[in-house]
Amino acid sequence: MKKPSVLVVEDNDLERQITAEILREEGFAVEEAPGGKRALELLALGSFDVVLTDLVMPGMSGEELLADIRPKYPATQVVMVTAHGTIDSAVKAMKAGAFYYLTKPTDRETLVMTALKAAELANLQEENLLLRSRLEGKLQIEGIVGQDPAIEEVIKIVRKVAPSNSTVLIQGESGTGKEIIARSIHKLSPRASRPFVAINCSAIPENLIENELFGHERGAFTGATERKIGLIEAADKSTLFLDEISDLGVGLQAKLLRVLQEKEVRRVGGNESFHVDVRMVAATNRNLAEEVAEQRFREDLYYRVNVVTITLPPLRSRRSDIPVLANHFLAKYSHVAGGRVREVSREAMEVLLDYSWPGNIRQLESAVERAVLLCDGDRIMPRDLPAEVLSKKALTRNAERGRPDRFEIPPEGINFDNLERDLIMQAMEKADGVIAKAAKMLGMSYRTLQYRLEKFGVKKGESRGLEPK
Ligand SMILES: Nc1ncnc2c1ncn2[C@@H]1O[C@H](COP(=O)(O)OP(=O)(O)OP(=O)(O)O)[C@@H](O)[C@H]1O
Ligand SMILES: [Mg+2]
Repeated sequence: MKKPSVLVVEDNDLERQITAEILREEGFAVEEAPGGKRALELLALGSFDVVLTDLVMPGMSGEELLADIRPKYPATQVVMVTAHGTIDSAVKAMKAGAFYYLTKPTDRETLVMTALKAAELANLQEENLLLRSRLEGKLQIEGIVGQDPAIEEVIKIVRKVAPSNSTVLIQGESGTGKEIIARSIHKLSPRASRPFVAINCSAIPENLIENELFGHERGAFTGATERKIGLIEAADKSTLFLDEISDLGVGLQAKLLRVLQEKEVRRVGGNESFHVDVRMVAATNRNLAEEVAEQRFREDLYYRVNVVTITLPPLRSRRSDIPVLANHFLAKYSHVAGGRVREVSREAMEVLLDYSWPGNIRQLESAVERAVLLCDGDRIMPRDLPAEVLSKKALTRNAERGRPDRFEIPPEGINFDNLERDLIMQAMEKADGVIAKAAKMLGMSYRTLQYRLEKFGVKKGESRGLEPK
């Protein structure tokens, strides 16, 4: 069980240290704050079960701190401690939502017992709140799977910011779900009825991005025979998603800043500015603060974009979601094998859990999709998983046990892609190019084989070439 956590707020250094020391000795995780302001900073960084606060302090009083904590941290219990104890102030504090009221000097036993009771209640409240939000569906967003606390936190932020117009920056490694989160923000916003407009700043050559974003007037440059409405204008009253924003050139960064500041856009070659009401969501797989430090990204734009930041955790740091996601993707793709594959075997799940997933959720998704296709029976087995996923497992297991693993992986790994392709091509040849016949030989459904042929890039023309004349 995790240690109960207490934040001790007291302006008198000696008193604070003594109280903190006693609580540490009794097994609490303790942080200290010399005043209300620091206390709120610490609370914003991480939750506490209990806040033990002095009542009379310079700056912010214990009462003010309590008033601030109550609505923001509903589970956290506040205990007031004061030398100026009066029945009146005790009643007042309790009415304002304090858990208890202690008078100084407090004896050790009372202090510890009160803190323990408060922590217990905090845990209960926390559980209740979690249950309630689950019941109310607050911790779920359609299409987003995950139950790791980190992802629940992300969902909470998404729900909180979605209704506003504030700019959101989504950071996370490749494949962690940045785009799906950006779309959820749009879907949960009052702008949802308008189309979500997305542009990937790294996929489009620099000189074309300006044209895409801002549009142009007719005759703006050679070849501009028609007026073109840019994506910023197209996203009026809607959401504009700027994917890989760190790849935007410095010149365009300045122009984008102007749009955000003035809410106006001017087409290339135009003299008129148009008012636009665009909610911007940006994503990057780099650390934008570092890009600023390296002077690759404008600081002023950074502050404009970074009003709310959502950081998506890599899959390897939310392992408990691997089984949930794997089953989600199994359900999503089971139709490609005619619904035959029903589950991921325990052995295969172990392999999935052991792997580091550098490509995150996207990589897991394609591994499961592929496994569904390769799977012979109704359960995905380790052999259905990609070589790199298996070899990681083999390596760690070998190192752990000092003996070869049950998976016999050659050092260079097995190339399942070619193996499968070869088998299928052989079968197609033997079946004279008749898909139904080849499918029967391979023990797979017509649709599965068709899907695989498509996936291997066997074009219609090619497979027709194999068909009997
Ligand atoms: N929490 C989730 N639940 C279900 N599916 C998810 C989740 N997160 C991501 N995915 C799926 O994983 C794939 C990758 O997600 P997405 O494209 O949003 O990632 P990304 O961070 O934008 O990746 P990249 O940096 O490569 O552009 C998508 O198919 C998406 O639907
Ligand atoms: Mg993306």
